[in-house]
Order: sequence, then structure tokens, then C-alpha cells
Amino acid sequence: MEILGVDIGGSGIKGAIVDTKTGELKTERLRIPTPKPATPEAMAETLKELVTQIGWKGPIACGFPARVVNGVVYTAANIDKSWLETPVEKVFSDAVGQEVFVANDADVAGIAEMHFGAGRAYQRGKAMVITIGTGIGSALFLDGKLYTNSELGHVLLHGDSAERYCADSAREREGLKWKDFGKRFNEYLSHIEFILAPDVFILGGGASKKFDKFKDELTVKAPVIPAESLNLAGIIGAAMYGEIRVKQAKELAKEAKEKDKDEKGSKKKSRKDKE
Ligand code: BGC
Repeated sequence: MEILGVDIGGSGIKGAIVDTKTGELKTERLRIPTPKPATPEAMAETLKELVTQIGWKGPIACGFPARVVNGVVYTAANIDKSWLETPVEKVFSDAVGQEVFVANDADVAGIAEMHFGAGRAYQRGKAMVITIGTGIGSALFLDGKLYTNSELGHVLLHGDSAERYCADSAREREGLKWKDFGKRFNEYLSHIEFILAPDVFILGGGASKKFDKFKDELTVKAPVIPAESLNLAGIIGAAMYGEIRVKQAKELAKEAKEKDKDEKGSKKKSRKDKE
């Protein structure tokens, strides 16, 4: 299936048409800077602009940097606070004039990485994808199945959300050397390992491209490997999530049609019985 996958981030909104079967991009990745302030209306306009530039008519799916449940945003750590409780799927669909599906950015990147990337070897057991960017995102998989909307970037470390201490934005803000960043990130991973003991940590997001610069500082027992699809996982995974939603919608429509048919059939039968 071909779907427009969109990765919505704090600095850029990136999208491409994806063949969900192969994970290949069918068009060049297009990037538009995230508007400032990134309010729902401004972001919706930027998404519309991206869809128009790509010239796409069809299903669209986005990874979004917050908890998204049933199309509604429930956290706003690194996005404009006006997003809280915004029905993002509705706002985006109305602006674009086509159906837009939305899920958490780390979850969708995780879906792509488990299917096409480093996670292929971890279809049994507990795999954890951690994205290191402006925030820290997490996606938990048990036997390849996703536990949605975990927010492990917000476990407390030194009295604050861990992402304040060791996201890539903390490294930049504090001008940390990669070695020092690695030490901080290792504290975080050790804490997570103590609580949840995954079989593997797969690192995605911007900082994972520099894995070689901090990997020597990591002392956790589980293997730590960089994501393979790197900055494309967000786009590919969003499209894969879109495919799941399109299929679900078809199933629901089929079930509703069958229910309707059954109801009509039984009404007809009871009328006949009465006659
Ligand atoms: C948000 C998560 C998001 C992560 C990465 C965190 O601040 O709370 O929902 O997945 O950043 O963007």
C-alpha cells in the first residue's frame, strides 16, 4: 500500500510517500521547518503545505511528539501547550481535506525499526526502542507487539524528567562532550534496565547517528544497538501505522455492513413469522 508518511518534529515536518510492503520511499523526503509557535492551527497549515507540495491524494499518517490516544493529544513536553487535549486527527484531517491518522513518534519509529531494521532479530522477547532527540521517546515491544504510548523519557532522574538530563537537546544546551553525554545516557539506560530489563535497547533519533561517539560509555547488560533506518524510521513507521488504521477502518466498515444485513434479515424473518 502507498501512504504518505509524515514525521512531525520540533524543528521540521518531514514526509514522503512510502511503499509499506518494502519500506521504500517512492518520493524524495520533503522537509518544511516547523512553524513557531507550533500551535495546532500553524502545524495543520504546514502539513497542508507539505501534502500540496508532494501532490498526494490518499491516506496520510503522522508520527507526533506526544502521547496520542484515539486521535487526541495528551502530553505537551516539547510542543506548544495549546496542543493539550487537541483532537489532532480531526484538526489535521479538516485542514488537509483528506483523512490523517496520528500516533506517537517513537511508537511509529519503533514499528519501522522492528519490521525493517535492527529489531528484526528481536521478534521474540522484550525489545525497547529509545529515540534521542529534542525529547526522549520510547517504544516497547513484547514478542514483536507494541505496548503503545509509553513515556519513558519522563522517568525521574536527578529530580526531573530524564529527557531534561540526557536528551540530545540537553547535550546541545549544556555543550556536553559526547563522552559526558554518554555517561549521562548510561545512567538513564541503567535505570531503565533495572526497572524493565529489556533484552535489547535499540537507539533511534538524531543522536543515534553519533552512536560511535558515546557507545564506549554504555555499561548496561543488554545489547545496545543503533537503529538501522536512522532518520527515515519516523516517516516509514508513520506510513506503516497508517496502513494498520486503513485496514482497521475497512474491517469495521465490513462488520457494520454485515451487522446491518443480519438485522435486516432477522426483521424480515420476524415479519414473515407473524404473517
Ligand atoms: C514526549 C514523547 C515523545 C518524545 C520524543 C517526549 O518529550 O513526551 O511523547 O515521543 O518526546 O519526541
